Amino acid sequence: MTASLSIENLHAGYHGKNILHGVALELPAGSALTIIGPNGSGKSTLLKAVVGLLPLSEGRLLLAGQDISRLDAPARAQRAMAYVPQENNVFRNMDVADNLRMSGEFLQSARAASPLRARMDAMLELFPELRPHLRTSAGLLSGGQRQMVAMASALMQSPALLVLDEPSAGLSPRNAELLFVVIRRIRQTGVTLLMIEQNVRLGLSVADTGLVLVAGKVRRLGAATELAADSGLHHLYLGSGQ
Ligand SMILES: Nc1ncnc2c1ncn2[C@@H]1O[C@H](COP(=O)(O)OP(=O)(O)O)[C@@H](O)[C@H]1O
Ligand SMILES: [Mg+2]
Repeated sequence: MTASLSIENLHAGYHGKNILHGVALELPAGSALTIIGPNGSGKSTLLKAVVGLLPLSEGRLLLAGQDISRLDAPARAQRAMAYVPQENNVFRNMDVADNLRMSGEFLQSARAASPLRARMDAMLELFPELRPHLRTSAGLLSGGQRQMVAMASALMQSPALLVLDEPSAGLSPRNAELLFVVIRRIRQTGVTLLMIEQNVRLGLSVADTGLVLVAGKVRRLGAATELAADSGLHHLYLGSGQ
């Protein structure tokens, strides 16, 4: 499945104080956008507002052209939006198969997706690394494997829009590279992808569009290749070393 996302003049924050000040972007169906920016600039806040965990104080969200601004998080999930938060994104005391099954059953009755079994098989084709670990508790996996379980669980819901918050956080450089190989595979399923990534090079390498968020405002929005080639960007907004 796939769907476009439009964010219009989005303002949101905590305890009556806005963190985001008029964020706007267009994400065509099937495309990928990576958000980069310094710590505390509001990246995670933006994703929470998109998935319905934080109310908008102003602005509008359209999924496949339909206004979803007033829907809560479960209702947005029913509209085929899946979210992988940065932390606590798997059930650590459940094995990999049960993680996938539970996530797949969550929306089973609501949407006419393919049967659970078929979706499990599709996930194991997309993430063959998980196959030997189906009966392993997710808490015993490596960080990289756990992120794969989190993404596979989200994809079990057959989302049209997949929202990822810093998938490579805490991974070794090698595991981060491997995870992005998987994200490239995910893109081939056609799902629309909205992600935050602190590894600028990797994050932009899988995206069509890059967005630099600074102090709750869009500082740059452009072709990912263009942003990736801008050496000043890393220095100005993101510190050195990436
Ligand atoms: N639950 C919360 N309550 C109050 N303030 C928050 C909460 N979560 C984040 N913030 C504040 O919002 C700002 C943006 O945070 P966040 O969106 O997490 O930034 P980023 O993901 O870009 O690092 C920060 O100043 C942070 O302290
Ligand atoms: Mg964050």
